[in-house]
Amino acid sequence: MSGEIVLVTGAASGIGRATAIAFAAAGAKAVVLADVDETGGNEAARQVARAGAQAEFVRTDVSKPAEVDRLVQRTVQLFGRLDVAVNNAGIEGRSARLVDQTEADWDSVLDVNAKGVFLCMRAELPQMVSQGSGAVVNMASIAGVVGFTWAAPYVASKHAIIGLTKTAALEVSKKGVRVNAVAPGIVKTAMIDRVTKGDARAEAGMVELEPVGRLGTPDEIANAVVWLASDRSRFVTGETLVVDGGYVAR
Ligand SMILES: NC(=O)c1ccc[n+]([C@@H]2O[C@H](COP(=O)([O-])OP(=O)(O)OC[C@H]3O[C@@H](n4cnc5c(N)ncnc54)[C@H](O)[C@@H]3O)[C@@H](O)[C@H]2O)c1
Repeated sequence: MSGEIVLVTGAASGIGRATAIAFAAAGAKAVVLADVDETGGNEAARQVARAGAQAEFVRTDVSKPAEVDRLVQRTVQLFGRLDVAVNNAGIEGRSARLVDQTEADWDSVLDVNAKGVFLCMRAELPQMVSQGSGAVVNMASIAGVVGFTWAAPYVASKHAIIGLTKTAALEVSKKGVRVNAVAPGIVKTAMIDRVTKGDARAEAGMVELEPVGRLGTPDEIANAVVWLASDRSRFVTGETLVVDGGYVAR
């Protein structure tokens, strides 16, 4: 990734933070970290700097078009270009059966997860197309590949990300820009701790769902993101790479 300018949303925590650090360790020149969490975002930026890249935290709510547009403008203003964009920010929403989900539940999850990815790509792709190069990696989920009970808005949002990824990839395929997605299995982050409410039995239940017999780590997802953003995957576009310990192989 030597010399590349990388943007990661949802970079304050979990998979996004690990991804920002992984790009720095892989030789990126600069990583712009976006999140609504300023404390976590600044802490992650310090870790990125320690890993060897310039780091800039820009507080951004990915569901707000003006904030997303400003984020990309700021990146280009500071570093002159945008080589890699990882659209990772996401929320899990409230755990309830489909018939018990409210319109507000639906809107909040779709606003961040699906509209957020749409707004980010709408801002990022013109810059990459104008450069004639770039790679976008969107954070989907195995919930974008198979259904999950008690998570209808989340599942819908992650299926939407896979469709957006394919469509965007086709629209820029002749412009030197690739668009892919990663679909993680169950990865031990703050998101999963919120779902299990820290209950060891609930976490053990999740481990049982994973054929490899453990949860994934944020680093294992970050490695896949870095590969999809690198020249090593230059013939891969429109793809969703499932990184799930075998979850969807069942
Ligand atoms: N952990 C898993 O098991 C798992 C599995 C599949 C996919 N994912 C996806 O990976 C991504 C990262 O999740 P994670 O597990 O690291 O969770 P996390 O909660 O640790 O991190 C998510 C980050 O996104 C940020 N965020 C939330 N809303 C935002 C907004 N409107 N604008 C900007 N930032 C916002 C949060 O502040 C947080 O820092 C999400 O898209 C999630 O759906 C996670």
